[in-house]
Amino acid sequence: MDIFSIPVSTISSEQAFSTTGRILEERRNALQRDIVEALVCIKDWDRADQRLQDTISPIKEAPYTRLCSTKNILTVNGMFPGPTLRAYQGDTVFVEVHNQGTQNITIHWHGVLQPRNPWTDGPEYITQCPIQPGGKFNQKIIFSTEIGTLWWHAHSDWTRATVHGALNVYPKKGTNYPFPKPHKEVPIILGEWWKKDVAEVLDAFLETGGRPSPSDALTINGQPGDLCPCSKSDTLLVEQNKTYLLRIVGATVNSIVHFSVANHNLTVVGWDGRYTKPLTTEYITISSGQTMDVLLTTNQNSSSHYYMAARVYSSGLGVLYVNTTTTVRLQYKGNDAVPSQRSTPPILPYFPAFSDTKYAFNFITKLRGLVDKDHPIKVPQNVTTRIFSTLSINAFPCTKNTTCEGPNGTSLAASMNNISFVKPSTSILEAYYNGINGVFQTDFPEKPPLAFDFTYDLSPLALQLSSRGTKLNVVDYGSTVEVVFQATSVVTALDHPIHLHGYSFYVLGYGFGNFNETRDKLTYNLVDPPFVETVVVPKNGWATIRFTADNPGVWFMHCHFDRHLVWGMETVFIVKNGKNGPKEKMLPRPSYMPQC
Ligand code: C2O
Ligand code: CU
Repeated sequence: MDIFSIPVSTISSEQAFSTTGRILEERRNALQRDIVEALVCIKDWDRADQRLQDTISPIKEAPYTRLCSTKNILTVNGMFPGPTLRAYQGDTVFVEVHNQGTQNITIHWHGVLQPRNPWTDGPEYITQCPIQPGGKFNQKIIFSTEIGTLWWHAHSDWTRATVHGALNVYPKKGTNYPFPKPHKEVPIILGEWWKKDVAEVLDAFLETGGRPSPSDALTINGQPGDLCPCSKSDTLLVEQNKTYLLRIVGATVNSIVHFSVANHNLTVVGWDGRYTKPLTTEYITISSGQTMDVLLTTNQNSSSHYYMAARVYSSGLGVLYVNTTTTVRLQYKGNDAVPSQRSTPPILPYFPAFSDTKYAFNFITKLRGLVDKDHPIKVPQNVTTRIFSTLSINAFPCTKNTTCEGPNGTSLAASMNNISFVKPSTSILEAYYNGINGVFQTDFPEKPPLAFDFTYDLSPLALQLSSRGTKLNVVDYGSTVEVVFQATSVVTALDHPIHLHGYSFYVLGYGFGNFNETRDKLTYNLVDPPFVETVVVPKNGWATIRFTADNPGVWFMHCHFDRHLVWGMETVFIVKNGKNGPKEKMLPRPSYMPQC
């Protein structure tokens, strides 16, 4: 067991780097746009010895300049993106989070199941009270079956825009990847950058009831890249005919993106911390909340230069999105003429129209879980708890003195089964554990209050209104839960990446239009469904997931677009303790939980 510490503070970024450890040095190089140096360090780094020093780092504000303007952002140890945490499969790791910033914060270990341990899962007011400025919280991260790339991020308001980083889980000593060992690994952390302070962006649209400003640029590893003003792409220097493992993190705030490398194929081998059947493709589509492990073989003409690039997929009519393309240069060793001396710019990969839903789901629906004797699966067959949940954008009547900026002067909201979730001002987990009444209700509906043509384009205005509540699902230990998510066209039809804490689930299928039980369940994949923790529910379509509720605790389920999260597109699962001894019971409450 190891102790890391992630303090949050307000000293300058220079000072933060002086806390050293090799990984920090490495990240500083990366910040200075020298990805290549970083790669070399990662390769030679002995994780077992160095993990302790991995993140001796404060959470704090630090000045960053992007797109020709400078602002202070909340960071872990002055770094954007934050440091990479590394662990072996099955490790238990402790991270001490120090809040040296000026606002409340919590940290979530996205995709880590945390068996029986919701206590340090991280979502604000769901499993804990926030860590207040000056406070600290020692978080236990219990890894079990996860493997590959996951990530960690802040889970309060919109702080995760800048407070996030990769969580790499390596095969246990003596075990291997189910694919040839990659030559090197490369972090690809997809993010979004606002010139304004993100807290101001958040306050502004909550205040007016309207749409949030889209970000000003997409980023890869914190950089908007060559195609944006005052920016320059990182360069990934590669050797010919080698295979690189791209650890791709969908750390965008409100977006799904396509990622592609000009002239090169990609082979997806992992998704959300699980292996997949290898899938060779020209591009991937990755949502906020998803992670992918992707192999890139450098088998192209080494005298050309290529861009690895990402661009948004956004399907909602009237939804504002960032339209920049973010890039990293891919350059073969031995061809290192200074970029400015080259006459032709690197080759850009192809991107479809921004709203091309088909293109996105062509890729998304092709992914399969890896199933073989070393990777068996257990898709639950008899469903005991069935939930059919709509995912809608809603509009409330304006309650302000001025006109609200939502459609027809309303105030925008979002819902599941027409309930816009209201976060309590204290931790749901604590209330549940201590039997405190009045914090939540346990009657999240198993179907929407009204059946209507969910995907009809001109849905009547009356359907736009949702109700507010803190409604949870309570399920017995060992239940088998199936959720059909139905994206509706109410207010705006668009895709929703739904994420569940505490579990991975099987994605049995997707479809367009209204879900039809008799017809659509025949299309379910019960053989090799992907086992993941975020599913992208298609615009005007549905997706079905299934899982066995064998992790007792309080687990958040929400749309991973932060604007929909703050509008209420979420609910919580309480999975009760089982009756067969301590292995089926939640761990006891740590005595040092933060107070509200
Ligand atoms: Cu990635 Cu509830 O979060
Ligand atoms: Cu959503």
